Amino acid sequence: MYEPTPEDRFTFGLWTVGWQARDPFGDASRAPLDPVESVHRLAELGAYGVTFHDDDLLAVQPDRDRAIAAFRKALAETGLKVPMATTNLFTHPVFRDGAFTSNDRDVRRYALRKVMRNLDLAASLGATTYVCWGGREGSESDAAKDVRAALGRYKEAVDLLCGYVRERGYGIRFALEPKPNEPRGDILLPTIGHALAFIGELEHPEMVGLNPEVGHEQMAGLNFVHGIAQALWHGKLFHIDLNGQHGPRFDQDLVFGHGDVMSAFFLVDLLEHGGYDGPRHFDYKPLRTEDASDVWVSAAANMRTYLILREKARAFRADPEVREALRASRVEELGLPTLNRGETLADLASDDFDPDRAAARGYHFTHLNQLALEHLLGVR
Ligand code: GCO
Ligand code: MN
Ligand code: MN
Repeated sequence: MYEPTPEDRFTFGLWTVGWQARDPFGDASRAPLDPVESVHRLAELGAYGVTFHDDDLLAVQPDRDRAIAAFRKALAETGLKVPMATTNLFTHPVFRDGAFTSNDRDVRRYALRKVMRNLDLAASLGATTYVCWGGREGSESDAAKDVRAALGRYKEAVDLLCGYVRERGYGIRFALEPKPNEPRGDILLPTIGHALAFIGELEHPEMVGLNPEVGHEQMAGLNFVHGIAQALWHGKLFHIDLNGQHGPRFDQDLVFGHGDVMSAFFLVDLLEHGGYDGPRHFDYKPLRTEDASDVWVSAAANMRTYLILREKARAFRADPEVREALRASRVEELGLPTLNRGETLADLASDDFDPDRAAARGYHFTHLNQLALEHLLGVR
C-alpha cells in the first residue's frame, strides 16, 4: 500500500534531489549529483518523470552535448518521461536584476536566447509544459524598477516565446510560477491572482497558464487550496509544484505534507476530484541536515504522503456521515444557480423569505471540519 507507480504521474525536478544545500549562510553540505543517477533512482522509487532547468543537466558534465546524450540514455533505460522543462534565469550574476525584465536590455536579449535553446531541447524530449519562474524579476527598491515598464517587457518576452513555439510547431504551453519574494525583495507576479490577471493581457493567453507552488502562496499568507481552485476555474492550472511550508517566512521547500498538513489534505482532495490531470510535480529541497542517502528517503516521502492523503480524501468523500454533514452544511446548494432558468431579478420580489428566520439556521461547518480532521488523523 502507498507504493507509487508511474500511473500516479509523480515527477521531480532534477534540482530538487540534486540540491547541494547551499544557503545564504552556509556552503554545500552534499556533493553534486549526476542527473543520470537521479533518473535511475527516481525510476526505482516509482516516479513517472523528471523535469529540469537547462543548467541542471550540466551538474557533473560541463559538455552540453555529452550531458544531454547521457540524460537521454538514462531516460530510455528507465522509461522516465520529461513532461516539463524550465530555464535557469537566476543563478548567474548576469541575471541579478532579472532576465526578461532586467533594466539592461542586452541581458533581456540573452535571456530570450537561453530560453529558446532549452525550448528546443524540451520539445525534443516530449515536454508539453514550459515553466517560467521569474525569481530575479523584481526589485529591492521602488526607485530602481519601473514596474509598468517591467510588465511590458515581461509580456513582450512571453509573447515572443509563444510566437517561437507556434512557429516551430512545438506542442508546448507555458506555465508562469508566482512567488512573492526571495531571492528578490519583491518579485513581479507575486501571487496566483497577479499572474492570472497578467495572462489576460498576453497575445496568446490560451498558451499560458500557471505552475503554482504550495509554499509560495503560503509565504504570502494566502490559502493555496483557494488559489488552486481559482486557477482550475479559469482553466489555468497547467502544472503544479507540491511541497511544504510553515506560513509566512523564507521559502522552505519542505517535503509535501511536512508543512500545513490540513491544507495538503484538502489540496489532494481538490486535485483528485477537481479535474486536474497533469503531473503531480514535487519541488522540494531535501533538508540541509541530510546526507546522500537521506535524499532518496525524502523523495519517497513526498510520493508516499500524496498517496496517503489521496486515500484519506477518498475515504472522506465516501463516508456516509461526511455526505450527511455536507448536506447539512448546504455545501452542494452552492452549485445551484441563484435564479432559476427563465427567472429574472423581478421575480425575486415574490420570494417569501424571512431573513430573521434564515439567520437562525446554523451551517454546522465545525462538525464537517472535524470529520475531515478525523479522517486525516486516521481515527475514522
Ligand atoms: C523556487 C522556485 C523554483 C522554481 C524552479 C522552476 O522558489 O526556488 O520554486 O524551484 O520552481 O526554478 O523554474
Ligand atoms: Mn519554492
Ligand atoms: Mn517551484
